Amino acid sequence: MNFMWDAEYSVGIPKFDKAHAKLFDIINDLIAGVRGNFKKEAVEIALAALLKYSEEHFAEEEEAMKKANYAGYQEQKEQHADFIEIVIALRAKVEAEPDMVSEALMILLFTWLKEHIRKLDKAYSPYLKGRV
Ligand SMILES: [Fe+2]
Repeated sequence: MNFMWDAEYSVGIPKFDKAHAKLFDIINDLIAGVRGNFKKEAVEIALAALLKYSEEHFAEEEEAMKKANYAGYQEQKEQHADFIEIVIALRAKVEAEPDMVSEALMILLFTWLKEHIRKLDKAYSPYLKGRV
């Protein structure tokens, strides 16, 4: 099973849609890395990419929200920080208890991101569209 980004997740801002699709790709790599045999190195590489890329993307989103004086900025910032924390915890888990790192855990991460995009990110769309 591969989770593809599609128009359902569009926030109407091409740059951010592209970033979200990239995050989806990276999480697909993570899921592939834990499916069947646990591929520690592949999982580590994907987690590092996820951390770097999500930090960069969240910073861009937050910057745009701040510029637009967007009312949902604080909630977004908190959720973004939560996501980064989850990824860092996952990275620690891969090192300390790789047996506990399951496909289900990665899918949970994916669900979190999809819900965030569908609810919070889509809400900023009318305020940021055409301004990024
Ligand atoms: Fe966001």
